[in-house]
Amino acid sequence: MDKGFCEIFEVGPRDGLQNEAREIPVAEKIALVDLLSRAGFSRIEVASFVSPKWVPQMAGSAEVLGGIARPTGVRYAALTPNMRGYEDAVAAKAGEIAVFASASEGFSQKNINASIEEAFERFAPILEQARHVDMPVRGYVSCVVKCPYDGAVDPSKVAEVADRLFSMGCYEVSLGDTIGAGTPDTIARMLLAVREAVPVSRLAGHYHDTNGRAMDNIDASLSMGVRVFDAAVGGLGGCPYAPGAAGNVATERVNAHLVGLGYDTGLDQALIEEAAAMARGMRAG
Ligand code: HMG
Ligand code: MG
Repeated sequence: MDKGFCEIFEVGPRDGLQNEAREIPVAEKIALVDLLSRAGFSRIEVASFVSPKWVPQMAGSAEVLGGIARPTGVRYAALTPNMRGYEDAVAAKAGEIAVFASASEGFSQKNINASIEEAFERFAPILEQARHVDMPVRGYVSCVVKCPYDGAVDPSKVAEVADRLFSMGCYEVSLGDTIGAGTPDTIARMLLAVREAVPVSRLAGHYHDTNGRAMDNIDASLSMGVRVFDAAVGGLGGCPYAPGAAGNVATERVNAHLVGLGYDTGLDQALIEEAAAMARGMRAG
């Protein structure tokens, strides 16, 4: 049965590799991105212009963006926490950027050394500049169900942060279950609140598989109208400032699942499996 299009936004080269203990050479990252670029994705997150003292793994981001093949139809995304990151991303020719906020104060402080309010003060000039040059900006909300520092997060808080990101110009808001604590029930309650503030067509699910529930959470989100999911090849990843966040949901599993349900993803499963094997090899060293 044809259920229409469902997109996977590949985040492995960023959300995956930022958390690996091994220092991964830029050439290996470029090889992974080039393989992923052939698999049919239209958006791949490959870079992060954050402080190298905070996330050393992303230090080579400009070199990665400078070295990859850029087939038409694929947009390469970069995370930017402040104007400095935005300027570096533009200089490195990122095709889109992402600002990242948290729905919990504890994680915001630990992750970016700033309150939620201060984070939005940093985002305002980024969105302003991006608007002038037609740079698409994606917004992340972290800890949409639970925070490793503050505990359970109220859906209304997630809706408030998502609303602010969307209202300030983010074209899509990705909802991060950063520590994989969500269940179909808590994800559905969160989505019910967020859908009131942001059209469901502008939402993405960003689920970590820490507790093995990511696929169930994707199913719950599908039933509520979400059609974009972030995933990382090989199930790499996590966030260095979220203890226990290991394991983005694996792209190869999500794609097989969506195709099995009857969705068209436009992706080549064999190439994704190849990229997953490469990604797992990078972890091992
Ligand atoms: P700070 O220490 O509060 O700020 O860090 P600062 O302004 O004092 O800067 C500290 C140093 O970083 C200075 O260098 C700055 O120049 C430099 P020094 O003078 O000490 O030599 N610096 C930068 N360098 C490169 N690029 C920049 C930049 N900005 C400042 N853009 C800061 C504040 C935000 C920079 C820091 O906390 C940071 O980089 N945090 C990023 C943490 C991070 O990347 N976390 C992972 C991504 S979030 C995530 O994974 C969740 C997500 O996947 C969704 C989900 O799963 O929920 C998106
Ligand atoms: Mg993540």
